[in-house]
Amino acid sequence: MLRKDHNDLLTQTGPDTPMGRMFRSYWIPALLSEELPENDCPPVRVKLLSERLLAFRDSEGRLGLIDEFCAHRGVSLWFGRNEECGLRCSYHGWKYDVTGQCVDVPSEPEGSRFARKVTLTSYPLVERGGVLWTCMGPADRQPPLPEWEFATVPAAQTRTTKRWQESNWLQAMEGGIDSSHVSFLHRGDLNSDPMFKGARGNQYNLSDSRPVFEVVESPGGLYIGARRNAEKGHYYWRITQWVMPSFTMIAPRGNHAVHGHFWIPMDDESCWTWSFDYHPTRELTGAELDAIRDGKGIHVKYVPGTFRPLANKDNDYLIDRAAQKAGRTFSGVEGFGMQDASLQESMGPIVDRTKEHLVSTDSGIIMARQRLLRAVKAFAADGVTPPGVDPEHQRVRSAALILPPDQPFKDGAREAMIARPAVAPSSV
Ligand code: FES
Ligand SMILES: [Fe+2]
Repeated sequence: MLRKDHNDLLTQTGPDTPMGRMFRSYWIPALLSEELPENDCPPVRVKLLSERLLAFRDSEGRLGLIDEFCAHRGVSLWFGRNEECGLRCSYHGWKYDVTGQCVDVPSEPEGSRFARKVTLTSYPLVERGGVLWTCMGPADRQPPLPEWEFATVPAAQTRTTKRWQESNWLQAMEGGIDSSHVSFLHRGDLNSDPMFKGARGNQYNLSDSRPVFEVVESPGGLYIGARRNAEKGHYYWRITQWVMPSFTMIAPRGNHAVHGHFWIPMDDESCWTWSFDYHPTRELTGAELDAIRDGKGIHVKYVPGTFRPLANKDNDYLIDRAAQKAGRTFSGVEGFGMQDASLQESMGPIVDRTKEHLVSTDSGIIMARQRLLRAVKAFAADGVTPPGVDPEHQRVRSAALILPPDQPFKDGAREAMIARPAVAPSSV
């Protein structure tokens, strides 16, 4: 369990909260590059850390992320005209550039300098790995650009999607570092999903549902090792990376693409679940790209024209009780992504952690909370830069490997847990 004041501290991420301010120390994914496909295309609403913002690409290709609402009388600039290097409000024509500077108030007399005095909040927006990233902290504390491997390999080797999740970010993230649920919730899909099937490691997952967890602190977060029995007294290790505040990378399977997530608060009761698949040394195949588009693996199908999953809480996630009874799926919900999201959303928008009963397989979650609490307290008290901001902390990999019984995973997997260009992932 977690004390109520600690639960509040970790789950509240608005602009005036300690956790919200700490989130603003990082480059976080804001939207997909494909959402702003060309110069002067329509602007896109983006809600992040309880702020309503608007992203746009101007006539010269410059990217901006500004307050959604016009400084004049507060209408949404989403209705605005993206033209001639700025976004013009549809109500009375005030115009803003990508930095949020007002550049024209057409009702003012010729030569008026009034517009120069008007600015909207704005944040940087940079493109990397098919994702547009922002850093919402003070400009003078902006860290180096993100170096996650999935965002720095050639474009043909990586693909990222996002979906709207109707829960607080923390319970979603905790699902991502809870590797023990794979043997239950996802067991029906391990051998059928095109992004997972056929790996030797799947058999260890299915035959040993009592993994032993060993969790070790890493520079940016945690190495979360889950140990299951393999042949001849050896162990099958799956090592998940968690890098603060909310990056996870799940251990690979066979020669499949490697995947992971970011969970970014939209507000305290909803978050963006970002899901990436990439391979460090090869291009994704046409079949893999089709599967991602089709909502397989950790991706989902959408309500057309939105990032809301097609299976969502308004339709009971299209639960199929017959499939559940027959054992085709464990929970009756189809697909890894919605199996996870349905249960995480079922906890309520912000789960009451004072009522939990944690067990040994929750040790990754317990240590992640401790690490977050330590970091947010040090950040709030002394402005200490939290782990995960330094790009060095981001050059990590998850790993799957077989080790002899006397070898600690942090030694046996030492090299495998570092992202090195052109070096194949360690996978079983
Ligand atoms: S409200 Fe935007 S110009 Fe008047
Ligand atoms: Fe899961």
